[in-house]
Amino acid sequence: MACAAISHTFNGFTITEHPDPVRRAETQKYVTWDEHSLFIDGERIMLFSGEFHPYRLPVPSLWLDVFQKIKALGFNCVSFYVDWALVEGKPGEYRAEGIFALEPFFEAAAQAGIYLLARPGPYINAEVSGGGFPGWLQRVNATLRTSDPAYLAATDNYIANVAATISKAQITNGGPVILYQPENEYTNACCGADFPDGSYMQYVIDQARKAGIVVPMISNDASPSGHNVPESGIGAVDVYGHDSYPLGFDCANPTVWPAGNLPTNFRELHLQQSPSTPYSIVEFQAGAFDPWGGPGFDKCAALLNHEFERVFYKNDFSFGVSFLNLYMIFGGTNWGNLGHPGGYTSYDYGSAITESRNVTREKYSELKLIGNFAKVSPSYLTATPGNASTSIYADTPNLTVTPLIGNGNGSASYFVVRHSDYASQASTNYKLTIPTSAGNLTVPQIEEKQLTLNGRDSKIHVVDYKVFGTNILYSTAEVFTWKNFAGGKVLVLYGGNGEYHELAVSSGSDISVIEGSTSDIAQQSTGDAIIIGWDVSSTRRIVQVDDLRIFLLSKNAAYDYWVPELPAAGTLPGFSTQEKTASSIIVKAGYLVRTAYLQGSNLHITADFNATTPIEVIGAPENAKNLCINGQKVRHSVDHNGIWVSNVDFSPPEINLPRLQDLDWKYLDTLPEIQPTYDDSTWTAADRKTTNNTDHPLSTPTSLYSSDYGFHTGYLIYRGHFIAGDQLPVFYIQTQGGTAFGSSVWLDDGWIGSMGDDGSSNSNGTYRLPTLTDGKPHVFTVVIDNMGLDEDWTVGSETMKNPRGILNYELPEGKSYNATPISWKLTGNLGGEDYIDKVRGPLNEGGLYAERQGFHQPEPPSSNWQSSSPFQGLSTPGIGFYSTSFDLDIPSGWDVPLYFTFMNASSSPAYRVQLYVNGYQFGKYVNNIGPQTSFPVPEGILNYRGKNWVALTLWAMQDGGAKLDGFELVYGTPVKTALTGIEPVEQPKYVLREGAY
Ligand code: GAL
Repeated sequence: MACAAISHTFNGFTITEHPDPVRRAETQKYVTWDEHSLFIDGERIMLFSGEFHPYRLPVPSLWLDVFQKIKALGFNCVSFYVDWALVEGKPGEYRAEGIFALEPFFEAAAQAGIYLLARPGPYINAEVSGGGFPGWLQRVNATLRTSDPAYLAATDNYIANVAATISKAQITNGGPVILYQPENEYTNACCGADFPDGSYMQYVIDQARKAGIVVPMISNDASPSGHNVPESGIGAVDVYGHDSYPLGFDCANPTVWPAGNLPTNFRELHLQQSPSTPYSIVEFQAGAFDPWGGPGFDKCAALLNHEFERVFYKNDFSFGVSFLNLYMIFGGTNWGNLGHPGGYTSYDYGSAITESRNVTREKYSELKLIGNFAKVSPSYLTATPGNASTSIYADTPNLTVTPLIGNGNGSASYFVVRHSDYASQASTNYKLTIPTSAGNLTVPQIEEKQLTLNGRDSKIHVVDYKVFGTNILYSTAEVFTWKNFAGGKVLVLYGGNGEYHELAVSSGSDISVIEGSTSDIAQQSTGDAIIIGWDVSSTRRIVQVDDLRIFLLSKNAAYDYWVPELPAAGTLPGFSTQEKTASSIIVKAGYLVRTAYLQGSNLHITADFNATTPIEVIGAPENAKNLCINGQKVRHSVDHNGIWVSNVDFSPPEINLPRLQDLDWKYLDTLPEIQPTYDDSTWTAADRKTTNNTDHPLSTPTSLYSSDYGFHTGYLIYRGHFIAGDQLPVFYIQTQGGTAFGSSVWLDDGWIGSMGDDGSSNSNGTYRLPTLTDGKPHVFTVVIDNMGLDEDWTVGSETMKNPRGILNYELPEGKSYNATPISWKLTGNLGGEDYIDKVRGPLNEGGLYAERQGFHQPEPPSSNWQSSSPFQGLSTPGIGFYSTSFDLDIPSGWDVPLYFTFMNASSSPAYRVQLYVNGYQFGKYVNNIGPQTSFPVPEGILNYRGKNWVALTLWAMQDGGAKLDGFELVYGTPVKTALTGIEPVEQPKYVLREGAY
């Protein structure tokens, strides 16, 4: 095949790429690898990465915030998916503009100094509708995710476009993208699918190459099972990677770590499967998704907490991992129907960064300790992982120690310690026998001292660890960071409060305690080294050994330390390199430190505060004279150790929020379909005698699958006309909307029943009908909540094609009825695939009357609507639409999380609510299923200083109707923020929609 050269420009440069591997190598010399790690720009680097999906935070000006919070962890990479369903709602029409544009995401990453792994699919899973497949793929007559030509053809336009955009942001063009992942977890198959299908994987790789992708291809096998490994022939990737979710996705019992769930064979499998590529875990568990009716994300954050991070991530380190991506680092929101039916609106995921971008979970702080350690420990990358042992290193079989042994010349070794029963809560004392450059040593060396591993913990003890010429013979306390400042070398260590720790400095001669109490610091000199032992306390001590200052912190104290890079030029941090790492400062602050830079003699720090915060700067550059925090010069003093000391006062602003109950609410019946005069003549007739969904043969005379008619999102409405016969005792119907869906049926204007309040994905209803007059026309109106399309995790399962709509129905025949079978019409969102709202995308709005009209947007024509509020609600089954507006005046300079909160009354009648904020659907509340009652909405969707429009749809599903027992706008802790430039996204207001019915 001829390989056409592809040209494009980035930052004014014209770049020519080649799909041919040999030619590609000529252009792509920026990202290379050996068996230990990747090299970027020639630098051996550990890539510590977090997963963050731009489409789950549809406010591009907030992306920098998340990137900076990731960067502050000591991380240097982000992995992101692109959701095809959001950018090709209509086949052939790729639209990635506004909130869907990727370029601002790339710019924000570059601005924060974060590399990117691009994962555009075409299949992504990701708990999104269809696993990223647009609904129209249900009509493609081919097995998805195989080399079936019709399927491949369906993917071409999307990948050609998305990969071209990504290619412009590759590192070869000065952008942040360093890796590309074709497909997603191409691992499991069933049902006779040809698998593994190398030519399919190759096709997906070639699609990207043809669009200009030159960076290496990395895979993510769902488990370490060796699919598509390098040199395996067709479909092989450049770098093999796999995923792992060892604690699974049930957060109900967050303190239970089931026996046997800690991975132990990853190193062994890596050596078997892909010994020549860096060991890469492309998705490692960092939280969990949660289903409708599930225990909620606070429980997931508790299951996958800071202890999980310590035990599991350090266990990954014990295998020599050098690309580690945590899924998710920030989850975000399944706004606008983008989620799959297995999840609700929140995609918080229990991640280190919460859905409202808050960083107060302890797991964020813990991760910062691990991230910074990895960043300053490149010698880890070339150390050789050994076998886990319960006898060689520790003096108790209750502990397992895995060594990573330095490769000669006194290079550093690492010893990863954990409980043998990884879930143990015991406090286990131990001594460690370790090989060092001074021979085998048993530590602690100071007599009668012991180390302790407290419960669910794991430690990395370093040996022969180099700090700018000083050899740390060993340290049992863990390394946070180390620096070489003009004023001297600094090493920051931490340990659990009350633990005994010890370190030895080779050929150390002089030792003094320069800050804090000397009382429980022991020292001892061997011929080779000076040994320092101490009990960790919450008060910091600084010990000076020759020209090295060692900060001894408790783990909790260390949580307040940050290591912003000090860019050599300009104000932005670079991508993480050792040189740049070396020119960082250490800042003790509180909530968050984002960046630091020097301008003239002003040392600038940008930081966020949620409390009055003492500030210290360790290692201020020599020519820095003034301290500026968020652009304001602040007073500082310099202590006897050269540490700058200052303070930031905090007094929370007054936040005034409207009481939603007191607002002027307008009401509209949004189920006009059940009125006798309703005219559905412009609706789509459901008259297809066959379905294009080849996996699901019809049980009905015409197809009632919504995707056959282009409706893939939100509420669906069906209208079934018939002439009554002489006997219509019962009507049977089966509807399907996906997990936790609901459905209600009306005959003319009378409600006859609802189904699906038990969490199932489809339901049957058998309804006894009232006596009807023989020969008269009647109509059924059926409303179905489409919860999103199923994913397609297992190749061949074709679960993505599970239809939405009416699967079956039966109306027993009477003599007149025989002549007129039910004739059906349907609607979903106005226009279907020709969706109206190009700004908010193809999935945001559903098929209710008010949605079709666009009344959920700002400034609906509500002046003549009735005044009625959702607190009054409906007294019978039906669907009401409520709209109101209010002004906000949140002080600028504050990041104030806002939530819409529903109150669940003691009884849980079946009702469903959709929450629209300035036209964006930011909540689906299901009162009788839950669990989510509180819906965060970010600034940018909400206008923090200006007018906001809120709309609710209230679907009362049972006798007696429904009303809201409580619905409030509330705020979380205001954070004084350095983040500026948050801009409202486009919020198209209501305009008359031509042809809307
Ligand atoms: C993986 C998949 C991700 C996501 C994750 C669970 O299997 O690759 O896309 O679905 O599981 O959150």
